[in-house]
Amino acid sequence: METNSISKSIFFLYFCFIILVNLQLIQCGVTYDKKAIIINGQRRILISGSIHYPRSTPDMWEDLIMKAKEGGLDVIQTYVFWNGHEPSPGNYYFEGRYDLVRFIKTVQKAGLYVHLRIGPYVCAEWNFGGFPVWLKYVPGISFRTDNEPFKMAMQGFTQKIVQMMKSESLYETQGGPIILSQIENEYGSEAKAFGAAGQAYMNWAATMAVRLDTGVPWVMCKEDDAPDPVINACNGFYCDAFTPNKPYKPTMWTEAWSGWFTEFGGTVHQRPVEDLAFAVARFIQKGGSFINYYMYHGGTNFGRTAGGPFITTSYDYDAPIDEYGLTRQPKYGHLKELHRAIKLSERALVSADPIVTSLGTYQQAHVFTSGSGDCAAFLSNFNSKSAARVMFNNMHYNLPPWSISILPDCRNAVFNTAKVGVQTSQMQMLPSNSQLLSWETFDEDMSSLGEDRMINSFGLLEQINVTRDSSDYLWYITSVEINPSESFLNGGEWPTLTVGSKGHAMHVFINGQLSGSARGTRENRRFTYTGKVNMRAGTNRIALLSIAVGLPNNGAHYETWSTGVLGPVELHGLKEGKRDLTWQKWSYQVGLKGEAMNVVSPNGVSSAEWMQASLAAQKQQPLTWFKVMNCQKIASD
Ligand code: GAL
Repeated sequence: METNSISKSIFFLYFCFIILVNLQLIQCGVTYDKKAIIINGQRRILISGSIHYPRSTPDMWEDLIMKAKEGGLDVIQTYVFWNGHEPSPGNYYFEGRYDLVRFIKTVQKAGLYVHLRIGPYVCAEWNFGGFPVWLKYVPGISFRTDNEPFKMAMQGFTQKIVQMMKSESLYETQGGPIILSQIENEYGSEAKAFGAAGQAYMNWAATMAVRLDTGVPWVMCKEDDAPDPVINACNGFYCDAFTPNKPYKPTMWTEAWSGWFTEFGGTVHQRPVEDLAFAVARFIQKGGSFINYYMYHGGTNFGRTAGGPFITTSYDYDAPIDEYGLTRQPKYGHLKELHRAIKLSERALVSADPIVTSLGTYQQAHVFTSGSGDCAAFLSNFNSKSAARVMFNNMHYNLPPWSISILPDCRNAVFNTAKVGVQTSQMQMLPSNSQLLSWETFDEDMSSLGEDRMINSFGLLEQINVTRDSSDYLWYITSVEINPSESFLNGGEWPTLTVGSKGHAMHVFINGQLSGSARGTRENRRFTYTGKVNMRAGTNRIALLSIAVGLPNNGAHYETWSTGVLGPVELHGLKEGKRDLTWQKWSYQVGLKGEAMNVVSPNGVSSAEWMQASLAAQKQQPLTWFKVMNCQKIASD
């Protein structure tokens, strides 16, 4: 391996040397100037798209990447997901959906480049923003600030990834596809909130990254103070107002949001391709030279990888390639045509700053010319209501409202962002005939709840401290003695239970019966449950099933945010008045029986006895697992 990578590097240096001697004096590797990223001496307009490797299966990768190439992309951008790669300290995993090297080599095989966003903080609607939960328990740690234990851990993982990439010869300077990297993610607002410590950490992160000597530039997105030579970049729905923090850095857009993520029960967002194309064309006409679609293929949050809380398992994102790997039309096709028009204009675009002239109140021309006679023009109409007929170079052009026409030769408009010429029929997902689906159910056994794997304490424990995120579920169980003299026992009004939770959702069981549920939201994880409870004389059992629905992935020091039932827990309406249960004895059980039995295993390796759903339909069971196999082939025409 070692010899192989050394010989590849030598070959590459030799190759560069040849260029140097026979052609002209060019700089090998990847650099940049104020106009663009420069690859082996050539300024490039780079069209990139995010495809996160663990959000699809390795079997899908080649097809997704080939579709990206066919769609006119030059670069695939991905984050690196620390918690997937280091599930426990020093225990690494790079297999299956986490086979980062295989993913990058698949991109390389397709002839595309890679932008590797190591982070290792990634945000990304990913559980805990990509940090392993064990990191929170490193003594003295404080995330994403000038804190030695954090910096040590961050450096360790970053180094590990860079080393892995180097030993596989994956950097461009070694003949590999990686042309760019990223350290941190959108740290700008955090840096300001953390004051001097934030600034010191940000400078440290940049220096640490640059010292790793990858031979390719580092980017810090949404970090206006990114120190040289790190490039600051924009993220957003529009980025035409963005200017890099130094005049000698290129204008880069690391996240052009193609749609948006979804929350459970929330809106499924869509972004019209006309607007996305307009935003991209507007960025390029302003002098932008790198644009990345976030996401180009969003994919799926498998298992318990979704963050939030309450981010859905689908991360489709209304991206040009949908969750299932199918091209989404007309988004995919219209962007492909946009990319073609931009590429036809590339030589002029990278050669000079645009000359801007007014063509009307809301209309402008941006004209790029090169010394060797190339000319490209972008004609824009910013009026969102009315079309305009403009005169440019003695010719008339019709510009629909809120649109940009691209003229790669300054004469012929080959593309207009608002004129969707590709297939306009849209694919509709229809529910399959549910009778063909054979649903099965498995009842979660609550009869032995509280008999094994119990932790006891007086008072309420924070959920993640107990589960260490090994499960979403934590049972909080306690007993309540009710005096036979209570008036509600003879048909009077039941007492009311109130439960304060720091998040995220909860089911309340009284003596084994589901009594009610409550939940917070992504913005406000806390909630208070209030409900009447059916209690009897003697001992009653309260079992609260607290559910963490994806750990937060952003917010200042989210590692300190609590989860679970933290009180107060109170019973109201007893003769004695309010009874506070918060500080009495509570027992805890981590996870569900079904999890321990691995009922979610796709290969069915589980001792669970599943029942046909039709047979189970009449039964009243509050906690039930459902599964369905769909092996039917859907005919296409
Ligand atoms: C950005 C962030 C991404 C992702 C996106 C929303 O601010 O950098 O990681 O979270 O928002 O999908």
